[in-house]
Amino acid sequence: MKKNPSEQAATSATAPEHASAGQGAQSILRMRSKLSFERLVEMGAKMGMENPLFLCHDGAAKATTHIDGKEYINFSTYDYLDLNTHPEITAAVNEAALRYGTSAGASRLVGGERPPHRILERAIADFYEVEDAIAYVSGHATNVSTLGFLFGTRDAIFYDGLAHNSLMQGARLSGAERYSYTHNDCDALEKMLREHRAQHRRAVIVTEGLFSMDGNIPDLPRLIRLKKEFDCMLMVDEAHSLGVLGATGRGVREYFGVNPDDVDMWMSTLSKTLCGCGGFIAGRHELVEFLKYGSPGFVFSVGMPPIVAAACAKALELLQREPERVHRIQRISQFFLQYAQGKGLDTGAAQGYAIVPVMVGDSMVAGFLANALFRRGIYVMPITFPAVKEGQARLRFFLSASHTEDLIRRTLDAVAEELPRAQETVDNYRREHQDME
Ligand SMILES: Cc1ncc(COP(=O)(O)O)c(C=O)c1O
Repeated sequence: MKKNPSEQAATSATAPEHASAGQGAQSILRMRSKLSFERLVEMGAKMGMENPLFLCHDGAAKATTHIDGKEYINFSTYDYLDLNTHPEITAAVNEAALRYGTSAGASRLVGGERPPHRILERAIADFYEVEDAIAYVSGHATNVSTLGFLFGTRDAIFYDGLAHNSLMQGARLSGAERYSYTHNDCDALEKMLREHRAQHRRAVIVTEGLFSMDGNIPDLPRLIRLKKEFDCMLMVDEAHSLGVLGATGRGVREYFGVNPDDVDMWMSTLSKTLCGCGGFIAGRHELVEFLKYGSPGFVFSVGMPPIVAAACAKALELLQREPERVHRIQRISQFFLQYAQGKGLDTGAAQGYAIVPVMVGDSMVAGFLANALFRRGIYVMPITFPAVKEGQARLRFFLSASHTEDLIRRTLDAVAEELPRAQETVDNYRREHQDME
């Protein structure tokens, strides 16, 4: 794909340094050229594809967004409940900034806390109806640091095959034995637990409340039964289910009506529905205290800026005060799913909650399709290898409570028209360049 202007600037600014790089740096650069996202961008450029990555938006990304002065229907934001830029959140941030500045200054362990940290953690614990919560400065770091810290070489981590990268990185860091079970396949998990659980000291089952690639939901009641039968902990990453699932947005536990204490670690990012940045673990007080005193991503990292804590606390308050936002995201997601299926588009395993993929198959076709839609004023990201297996590339639509039926009809009509054209472009290129491949 062609480089966009900011990338061109970045490349030329760093070129002299690369040119004089030593052996170690050279080997890093060789490795870098093998990174698949980058390879795909390069291959796409040869075929005339524009790079859809790293575009600079003129303002806040909502149901629509502006890039280079042009308006696009936007399906690439996690602002599920349409809370980002809400005046009450902005006011809370302004007030916190005036009082506490923009930085926590140091790790909370040594630099101390500010009231917004405590208010947010209390609100999260109450929301989940558990004893306590800890907020980390990054969602990704929450998973890496929590799993990496709590588990060790004598333990086992059983995780869903589609678990987010941060969960897998945490599992790897822990040194525990890792068992990946087929996505959402509780029979496969049970078999693994039967075979391997007894060989380990502690064990944890790790899943997501709503899967970020396929938009589907795990069988949480069965996972709870398995965790009890095999004496495991259970961790549920609610990055995409908080605010989206359940009659009042309380996530996958409300969707299934399970007891919150049956999950040992409710994890979520704060960057999606709560439109801030960071992550949390909610659960028993003892566990939270253990993490607060030991988990490296908390102890050895600066505290979350109080302005972010204030933003997330206000967003959580709004979510509870205005459940109609939850109903809107649920309604519009179901509409999207049904309309897409009505147009003959393949929506994979999606259940119609905030994330709906349109399966394309070939990574290049997905890239060209995204390009064509972009030209028609629709901003949606192609998800390609290595984020998903080759052959399972897709466009991933993130929906927002402020998307309208009209925007969705326009979008899906365009997808249905452009998909065969994108396929044809790639087929033609491959035919013409057969000898060169
Ligand atoms: C399921 C899941 N967990 C964790 C993360 C990491 O969260 P953050 O981007 O807030 O660091 C993401 C990010 O998209 C995610 O989808």
